Amino acid sequence: MKNTVVTIREAKERGEKVTMLTAYDYSMAKLIDEAGINMILVGDSLGMVMLGYEDTLSVTMEDMIHHTSAVARGVKNALVVADMPFMSYQTSVYDAVLNAGRLMKEGRAQAVKLEGGREFADHIRAITAASIPVVAHLGLTPQSLNAFGGFKVQGKSEAAARKLLEDAQIVEEAGAVAIVLECVPAKLAKLVTEKLHIPTIGIGAGADCDGQVLVYQDMLSMFGDFKPKFVKRFGEVGAAMKEAFQNYSEEVKAGTFPAPEHTFKIDDDVIEKLY
Ligand code: KIV
Ligand code: NA
Repeated sequence: MKNTVVTIREAKERGEKVTMLTAYDYSMAKLIDEAGINMILVGDSLGMVMLGYEDTLSVTMEDMIHHTSAVARGVKNALVVADMPFMSYQTSVYDAVLNAGRLMKEGRAQAVKLEGGREFADHIRAITAASIPVVAHLGLTPQSLNAFGGFKVQGKSEAAARKLLEDAQIVEEAGAVAIVLECVPAKLAKLVTEKLHIPTIGIGAGADCDGQVLVYQDMLSMFGDFKPKFVKRFGEVGAAMKEAFQNYSEEVKAGTFPAPEHTFKIDDDVIEKLY
């Protein structure tokens, strides 16, 4: 069944959990889509897990369009959401609409995601008015790394918790179709989830969110640089890949790969004439 912003919201109304994973290319998007995951996020986390930057700030619109279009070509049923990269929407409402439009037209995303609450309510309203669904992202918003002074849990004090709840309500009112809650205390995420009509998608935000999202390299144990507390390893794919690479290396060096069944034939008399 095709997932849309409508089916995602209906899932919340029925009390059904929503699943989301990141993907950045065609073949991984195809696997995730075939597994029946509801939403695929082309996250700006691609700057870190695909491109090797230390944070997400260097990711460009061109990077996002390039990867989003690859993902979109691999997907049949999942809802494709593309992140708006740093400085593609913060600069003005006009830039926000223009760049959200590029992710839809050139990237073939079906929704965009941006980090922030009340500061970007006008941006969310304008993008939504252009018939582009917006997912908001609250809590630990990695593009604000320099303002936060590091990656840490957000919304712990009463003032911060109240601000996060209000931000969630403001972005819902502005037209957001869902909210990602990253590194938010579980009880606060539960409260936000109960107060909102749109689904909350948690990452490090406890089990009471309407859905969950993970970066696929994290859940497959493919990314060794660090492991956040909220990551569960659902597979040891990194180790399996490394073993396959080593097996390949050994067989090539030993001359056992390629074997006859991997090899193309030609009539012996043709070759003899060339000797
Ligand atoms: O970029 C990303 O992968 C994200 C998720 C962690 C929500 O924004
Ligand atoms: Na992101």
